[in-house]
Formats: sequence, C-alpha cells, structure tokens
Amino acid sequence: MNPSQIHNPWRAQLQYHSSIDSTNRLAKDLARAGAPEGTVLLADRQSAGRGRLGRSFYSPEGRGIYLSLILRPNLPVTQLMHLTCAAGVALRQAVYDVTGLHGGLKWINDLVLDKRKVAGILVEQGLVPGTDRVDWAVVGIGINCYHQKEDFPPELREVAASLSMAGARSFTRTQLINALLERLHQVLSSPASTVMDAYRRHCITLGQRVQLLGTEPVEVGTALDVDDQGALLVQTRQGTVTVRAGEVSVRGLYGYIS
Ligand code: BTN
Repeated sequence: MNPSQIHNPWRAQLQYHSSIDSTNRLAKDLARAGAPEGTVLLADRQSAGRGRLGRSFYSPEGRGIYLSLILRPNLPVTQLMHLTCAAGVALRQAVYDVTGLHGGLKWINDLVLDKRKVAGILVEQGLVPGTDRVDWAVVGIGINCYHQKEDFPPELREVAASLSMAGARSFTRTQLINALLERLHQVLSSPASTVMDAYRRHCITLGQRVQLLGTEPVEVGTALDVDDQGALLVQTRQGTVTVRAGEVSVRGLYGYIS
C-alpha cells in the first residue's frame, strides 16, 4: 500500500500506521479529542482488530485493508444504523469498481462473496452529553484482500474468504482504498431513501430463514425487509420482530448464510 497515493475526498488528515492495535480505537480517541470529519486512519496490520458484538477482526500484515473514518453526522443515535447501511452500499460498489466482483450484503454489516465473508463494518459513536445526538461516529471497515485459505485461522476457514480467493481481477490495496473513500464520500451525501433502496437491492439476508442470536431462547424466522432506519424485519411465530444491530446477530439456519 502506498499512503502517498491515497486521496482523501474530505481533504482531512490521513494517518497511516504499519502496525496498530485497532484503527477504530485510535479513531475514537482522536474523535473525542476533536478531530474533524473526514479524518482517515489506515493500518497495514492490527493486533487487536475489533468486530461487532465484541468479536475480533483478523487483521494480518500486508493482506487486508483496515480503515477507520471519522464522521460528525448531525443525527439522533436512532438513525445511526443507516450509516452502517450506507457504508455497506459504498463498500460493495468500491469492491465492484476495482475487482469486478458483485458482492452481497449480509445484514447488517458483512460483504459476502460465494457465501463467505470478505469484509465487515463496525460503526461506533459518541453522543453529545445529555442528549441523544451523535457527536462523532467512526466507520471502521476491514477487507480481506489477498489471503489464501490457509492464511485464515482454522475456525474462520469455512466462513471467511478474500477478494483474491473469490476471483478478483488483479488490484492494489491503494486502488481499492481510493475507490472506497470516493464511494463513501458520494453515498454519504446521497438522499437516505436512495441509499436504503440500494441496500435492500443488495441485501442477501432478505427472504432467508434466519436465527436471531442473542435472544433467549434463540428465535427463528424469515427476514422480510429492512426498514428506513436499517432495522431488519423478521417474521417469527410470535409476529413481526424489528431487529436492531447491536442487539442481536443474524445467522442462516444451517451456517453463516443459509
Ligand atoms: C465485523 O466484521 O463485525 C466488523 C469488522 C470491522 C473491522 C474493521 S478493521 C478497521 C477497523 N478497526 C477495527 O478494530 N475494526 C474495524
């Protein structure tokens, strides 16, 4: 990766680290200290890459893209799931631009190719004290670019893949980061309804039988739709349940997808 060839469309600072614990951790510290919208943190390796619901994100050196973007959206926190959806739409489009691969979005935050996860998104936020308004948000994106199957730890080999494994045409991480920042900048300034329509079109969870993990007992149902806030509507025996990110995760009945 060549940081000097990366263009930040926000024209804010772009920091590159050859190794870091987590770009989201650093981005949150900088956001709390007042860093402006559009600040980008990039790393070649993360020793403690983080995923949703307390999971980790495997981030080996030289193989992936580990990027965090600081935003200052003037939104109530209830609308933040929309930001994850917008990032998913931008990520999917950037991957197509650079690799020619058409990924699907597994609700809410995974980019999937050939039924395996190739990228994930973690949005974290801080509120204006005493309000429900977002002071800052960090959009963290991790993309598996060049891994081969044996590069993944055994427990990830059946559920994760890289863009190379999925048949991407030859690309550099610099090209993909530039496309990603460009698409994020474009999608984040598009009307919410356009973004959510694109999200629904590419959401591979819709129509699937899913389990809601994190409910007690685990509930099973059919994913019907994604509402305008980004919540998943699931038809269960008890009726339609509205599932918000951060509360539960969704699994296919027989594995990661289906
Ligand atoms: C997930 O799969 O649940 C989300 C993964 C998000 C990973 C990215 S990599 C860059 C940024 N820094 C982190 O620690 N996590 C995000």
